[in-house]
Amino acid sequence: MRLLFLGDVVGRSGRDALVRELPGLRARLALDLVVVNGENASHGFGLAPDMARAFLAAGADVITLGNHAWDRREIIPYLEEERRVIRPLNFPPGTPGQGAVVVEVPGNRRALVVNVMGRLFMDPLDDPFRAVQAELAKHKLGQTIQAAIIDVHAEATSEKQAFGHSFDGLASLVIGTHTHVPTADHQILPGGTAYQTDAGMCGDYDSVIGMGKGGASLRFWRKMPGERLAPAEGEATLCGLFVETQDATGLARRVEPLRMGGRLSPIMPAA
Ligand SMILES: [Fe+2]
Ligand SMILES: [Fe+2]
Repeated sequence: MRLLFLGDVVGRSGRDALVRELPGLRARLALDLVVVNGENASHGFGLAPDMARAFLAAGADVITLGNHAWDRREIIPYLEEERRVIRPLNFPPGTPGQGAVVVEVPGNRRALVVNVMGRLFMDPLDDPFRAVQAELAKHKLGQTIQAAIIDVHAEATSEKQAFGHSFDGLASLVIGTHTHVPTADHQILPGGTAYQTDAGMCGDYDSVIGMGKGGASLRFWRKMPGERLAPAEGEATLCGLFVETQDATGLARRVEPLRMGGRLSPIMPAA
């Protein structure tokens, strides 16, 4: 299976680049499955239903969220009708929405996508490790599902690396989101799981993690309430990871980063 995971879409510049480029990327890389993190799509905070619809129409199969899941409250009823948009699995019981979804993939295949949030330097939540372990136990990789993708939305590199090792051999891909800068540690772990600590964002990199650099920098210089951050508006770099897996095992055999447009040095997986 040929998978593309794209990191957090930030604001209008990220949305525009994604919707413009994704149909071409799907064709160029012959992608079977595309997963996009959309938690910052709406002016940096949350995802509105019309944006989710636009991403799905452009070629995203599943949209994941994170700590900004509920910033646009209109998403709450939408999650009940659109199961391809998922929020972190380890939100406490009773929280709206789902933390995992199985989608059909061309060729009579199925893929599990899970969104989970870390706990280090983040809101207190249920145990993400045991939550993912329980979710994976419902499926058999290589049999009932041909791929399993886990978006670990977390601040700490250590927690994300621990996640990768904990589920090495049990998932096709464990990929970090939330820190908005792509890490150079993409690899296939010893057990066959593709891994990257952070996918990076789809947003303007002349910024502070996607937000306007002036206002965002001032926050570190002084203490003033009510200063509202706004996304940077320059051309976005699309950042993500391409993974090719073996259907019989669900494990990775190729992993290559993708960076396209905007300010970061470009890199495109071989077609
Ligand atoms: Fe984010
Ligand atoms: Fe986040």
